[in-house]
Amino acid sequence: MSIASLLSFNRGRELFLPAHGRGAALPKEIKQLLKSRAGVWDLPELPGLGGPLVADGAVAESQDRSAICMGAKRCWYGVNGATGLLQAALFSLARPGQAVLMPRNVHRSLIQACAIADIKPVLFRLPFSADLGHVGTPNSDLIKEVLDEVSLMEVDIAAAVLINPTYQGYSTDLAPLVDLFHQRGWPVLVDEAHGSYFASEVDKDLPVSAISAGADLIVHSLHKSAAGLVQTAALWLKGEQVDPLTVDRSVGWVQTSSPSALLLSSCEAAIREWSRSSGRKKLIERIENARSIAFHLRERGVPLVTNQDPLRLVLHTGSVGVSGFEADCFFIPRGLIAELPEPGCLTFCLGLARHRGLIKDLTSAWEDLLANNQGSEPFEPFRSPPVPKVMVPAIGCSVAWRSKSQSVPLDEAAGHVSAEMVCPYPPGIPMVVPGEALNQISVEWLLEQKLLWPDQISSELRVVCQ
Ligand SMILES: Cc1ncc(COP(=O)(O)O)c(C=O)c1O
Repeated sequence: MSIASLLSFNRGRELFLPAHGRGAALPKEIKQLLKSRAGVWDLPELPGLGGPLVADGAVAESQDRSAICMGAKRCWYGVNGATGLLQAALFSLARPGQAVLMPRNVHRSLIQACAIADIKPVLFRLPFSADLGHVGTPNSDLIKEVLDEVSLMEVDIAAAVLINPTYQGYSTDLAPLVDLFHQRGWPVLVDEAHGSYFASEVDKDLPVSAISAGADLIVHSLHKSAAGLVQTAALWLKGEQVDPLTVDRSVGWVQTSSPSALLLSSCEAAIREWSRSSGRKKLIERIENARSIAFHLRERGVPLVTNQDPLRLVLHTGSVGVSGFEADCFFIPRGLIAELPEPGCLTFCLGLARHRGLIKDLTSAWEDLLANNQGSEPFEPFRSPPVPKVMVPAIGCSVAWRSKSQSVPLDEAAGHVSAEMVCPYPPGIPMVVPGEALNQISVEWLLEQKLLWPDQISSELRVVCQ
């Protein structure tokens, strides 16, 4: 079967990303463009049109307008997802050999950037919810403890990274955390891949966007949390701490020389929705509708986790003794397709499309699941990752993944240094990073994770040859 023949396939109720919901919530100019003569919109950088790094042309003007509109100093559109722009942002914050402080739930793209550019990730532990199996978000007390610990370490930290919100929609009050890092003189990059639309500020109960919270560089995945086509993203620069020229050069290292005009136009349109009254009205409706869906599901006994992103519904399947993977397999034939199955939960992304009848469908699928699993006991608490409060890889990521390596059975990996990432996808959060030393306890935990994440964790691990 060809790829093309699969694309128009209707899979059921699509509660996964991209957020435009198979085109339903695309901005009107993109819908019109895609209806025009097939392929006419498929252009690379051309005179007059330009691209994210070209000083003149429609793209440069559009990026400037977007920056002004968002109160940012600069904006770069991206055509390689948040991945490409996060990597560019990191390259512009640290030189080879320097370190960057990041939470343990960092997306794999940033660890890859560390490996490419010889930047040391200094990874700090996050709170862990044992009943859900999720890591949470940091607060000021946690960051202060981390900073105290880091003061005792011999690392040259150049910047800090925060992830807000998480995939499951947990969010923290960013401003005080950004402040604490700024007091150290460190610029702050926020991976707001899942929270682009917070920047619209259409609703006072939405988390405050990193753009308003004082971060220096902010990355949005416009297809995950705005109405952009897949691969669209935006990088915003604020304040005086980061030199825009350095960011320009860094974006140039990772960006294709033929950025798709269609995707650039989709970046523009997705962001423009937040300033148009029709776009804002639609967004407010979706948020209110999402809150109402969650309210009615809870009233009907569906165990939804409390989070801060109304567009993410997280079902606590472990509360009735069912894994998120089992629940996903049960729901798919019933036409409910989720985004993120995990050991204890299943996350649905409502996105920006309308979902009529979802309360009824989800409630009845949930009741069927309960009937099918009568007698199952709620899961035992998950074991928290056995990671130190702050961890610097024993060997730089950059050296470790280029080192001569050998494959060993996972249960024999204690005493070795990993040469690779162990990273279920989604959510794309590494459990082990290249260069990390493994001990008996971490290996036991990994073996447990292997059982919890079916087919996602190999029984072999590439380790650095000793
Ligand atoms: C927290 C986080 N950041 C960044 C990314 C990368 O986003 P993109 O798919 O737009 O490259 C992801 C993808 O899952 C993510 O979860």
